Amino acid sequence: MTVDTKRNIAHRPNVTAENPFGLNDPTLIVPYGIVGGRMVESSDGSRFDVHDPATGAVIGSMPDMTAADAAAAVRVADETFKTWRNSNILERQKILLRLNDLFILHATDLARLIVWENGKSWADAYGEVLYSASFCAWFAGECVRQRGDVLASAIPGQRNLVIKQPIGVCALLVPWNFPAGMITRKAAPVIATGCTAVVKADPHTPFTNQAIMELMRRAGVPDGVVNSITTHKHLQEVGAELTTNRLVKKVSFTGSTRVGKILAAQAAGTLKKLSLELGGNAPLIVFEDADLPTAVAGTIASKFRGSGQTCVCANRIYVHESVYDEFAAQLAAKVKQFKVGPGFDEGVTHGPLINAAAADKWQGHVDSLVRAGGRVVAGGKREGNAVQPTVIVDVPADCVLNEEETFSPLAALIRFRDEAEVVELANRADVGLAGYFFSRDADRIFRVAEALEVGMVGANTGAISQAFIPFGGVKESGYGKEGGYEGTDEFLNKKLVAIGKNIGSPATVWG
Ligand code: SIN
Repeated sequence: MTVDTKRNIAHRPNVTAENPFGLNDPTLIVPYGIVGGRMVESSDGSRFDVHDPATGAVIGSMPDMTAADAAAAVRVADETFKTWRNSNILERQKILLRLNDLFILHATDLARLIVWENGKSWADAYGEVLYSASFCAWFAGECVRQRGDVLASAIPGQRNLVIKQPIGVCALLVPWNFPAGMITRKAAPVIATGCTAVVKADPHTPFTNQAIMELMRRAGVPDGVVNSITTHKHLQEVGAELTTNRLVKKVSFTGSTRVGKILAAQAAGTLKKLSLELGGNAPLIVFEDADLPTAVAGTIASKFRGSGQTCVCANRIYVHESVYDEFAAQLAAKVKQFKVGPGFDEGVTHGPLINAAAADKWQGHVDSLVRAGGRVVAGGKREGNAVQPTVIVDVPADCVLNEEETFSPLAALIRFRDEAEVVELANRADVGLAGYFFSRDADRIFRVAEALEVGMVGANTGAISQAFIPFGGVKESGYGKEGGYEGTDEFLNKKLVAIGKNIGSPATVWG
């Protein structure tokens, strides 16, 4: 490990002109699109810059690929599907197991890339790599767990079979907040089910994306099975191409509800299957019977992961009036211990936000909550894209966070009096991805878990994300699940095969 003593940097990679990201294995840097196993430039020759969120410095560039480039990648994926769909499940399983091992082998380099272009802290970045690897391991198992059904038949002598088949070419539109996690959560089931894909990397974080493409190649994913394009100024045209192209049979998108609705409208023309993992605006409730240290730890795990930039981060925090002051004091004391700075720096717990617009949004929310009567009891300062993890108390229930997800390390504490009131407040949102609450009452745990209008509930925990669960929301948080066995089914079509007896026309049971 290299230590830059001037900046007291512990995890900082050893940067040289030849190795600008300071990786142990610099061949993981692939500054190109990857189509049919080939490294490609944009057809118009243009490139875009990628920035370090901590300093704003340009750290590299990627091809700015066009809608025509996306269409070409789709054709390659479609051609490859014709043979890959019949590949042996054990072959696919071995590939995913090798990919899991490669993630672990290159965990330090992948974490470095995540810190370079996403800015998250070293612990968050390293944790994301392990989280990503777990999708490879889970879906390796799913290769051999894909099962159909044999059903009863109303028609004498006939048998009903339900078989599952790969859906075809998938467009995988991945976000910047988990540069490794989200491509893996989508691409691993593509490989497991015998589908093919075109990934559209996020322009903030394409280097991690393309390094994972290189690991897929090393793991034995055949050329053309997973293709990846990078784009910035053509983002909308590329999105339109991938959601309207007739050869694409499924779109999987993680991002905002606003963009999800645009993509869904575009995909409606060809009725593509969709998985949409969209905005969350998660409620978190601390009841009067909560164990407060557990509630504080859970709130930190949910609210401040990735500097508050996850879809499942708590956005509205409701605390019962009888424990409000004590909870606020304990939470603020912990938050004051956080250290904000570049993700490579020693002791940094929280990296900068992804860009200036994100920090501006945080500032706007702090100002709005203070205008509404809130008091900042921890944090509240900003330097460039780095904002301090912040706790604001005395926030009224009717505040800006009802409509807007802050996507920043801002914990706004709202008082409540009783369960019915707080459940109503929690459900007063158009979206419903995750919700959390803290209580030691077993009856209440079931009651509130069932009452919350969300796809995922954390009761006495702020950490719910795993490869084995059906991750996804309800309402305007989207539809479709990622992870779990449901995450495999998303990439499979169910087909009925009704097998009759060779005795002439079927018996007429329906008259
Ligand atoms: C997301 O924020 O989109 C994903 C969060 C997770 O997988 O935990």
